[in-house]
Amino acid sequence: MNNLWSTKIQSTELLYYSRLERFNDENCSRWFDLLKVKDGMKVLEVGCGGGHFTNMVKKYFPNCEVWGIDLDTNHINFAKNKCKELGLDVKYLEADINNLPFEDESFDLIFSHTVVEHLPFENFITEQYRTLKKGGHLVIMKVAGGVKDNPYMYLEDEIGKVFDKLEFEDRPIVGKYNEEIEQRLNRLHKYGFKNLGFSYDRFVYYCPDIEDNKQKALQQINLHFDMIRYNAIFNIQSAQNGEEHATELLDLLDKQYAIRKNLYLSGEKVYDYVSSNILTMWADK
Ligand SMILES: C[S@@+](CC[C@H](N)C(=O)[O-])C[C@H]1O[C@@H](n2cnc3c(N)ncnc32)[C@H](O)[C@@H]1O
Repeated sequence: MNNLWSTKIQSTELLYYSRLERFNDENCSRWFDLLKVKDGMKVLEVGCGGGHFTNMVKKYFPNCEVWGIDLDTNHINFAKNKCKELGLDVKYLEADINNLPFEDESFDLIFSHTVVEHLPFENFITEQYRTLKKGGHLVIMKVAGGVKDNPYMYLEDEIGKVFDKLEFEDRPIVGKYNEEIEQRLNRLHKYGFKNLGFSYDRFVYYCPDIEDNKQKALQQINLHFDMIRYNAIFNIQSAQNGEEHATELLDLLDKQYAIRKNLYLSGEKVYDYVSSNILTMWADK
């Protein structure tokens, strides 16, 4: 049982809903092109969190055998329940990237999204190399600079002041294994990987004012503000004095959501947006 990530770093809901925003039905073909996934492959996502990306692969490539592993028990339980709810047959396992519970040369494709920066690279890659088939494809994705994840925030100052009052014990430091691309590619090369490459791709996944379809624009607003709420709830739960400030913070967030929604409904455009720059590195065994 390991709940470090979901209790100290990001709640499962926060992670899941942020990914629901990031990979969606509109943009998933661009993500799938980066993975080079094809129907019929045996696919593994390592560090799959709540499983949204993994589920999307199964949804669009139903003849793939899809596996997701994560060390965090809450994440994996959530992923198992969610895929059942969605009627998708994805195999989720609580497991460690350092010790993958699979035979040698099991997978055609192994991928990860925002995991590589949290582990020493040697630990991250050894077991993926072992479990990838000869000729199999490895894809490593992470967010790399140029992130804009806060749309224009109404009531920003008031909300910021309440956040400032929250008191936290030391939180684990994450993302401490950042390395230059050339170092990572070099290590992959030394491991024996071939056909190495990388790209940067900008994804914009929230900008309701440029969406033609009103229902979809409102969906974007609802999802985005749900996520802001999940972030606040996680902070309230992890702060020592969270309870004291919960009502004030959640009321402000309700107001913030109402302001944005009403602006949209009144036809006033503000063009707030959320985007991230994704670095994808790939290699063949
Ligand atoms: C930033 S989250 C990304 C989750 C998911 N890939 C996504 O984008 O939604 C990093 C994930 O790596 C997982 N993780 C960290 N160390 C791990 C390890 N040694 N084995 C398996 N998973 C690990 C964490 O539990 C967490 O779910």
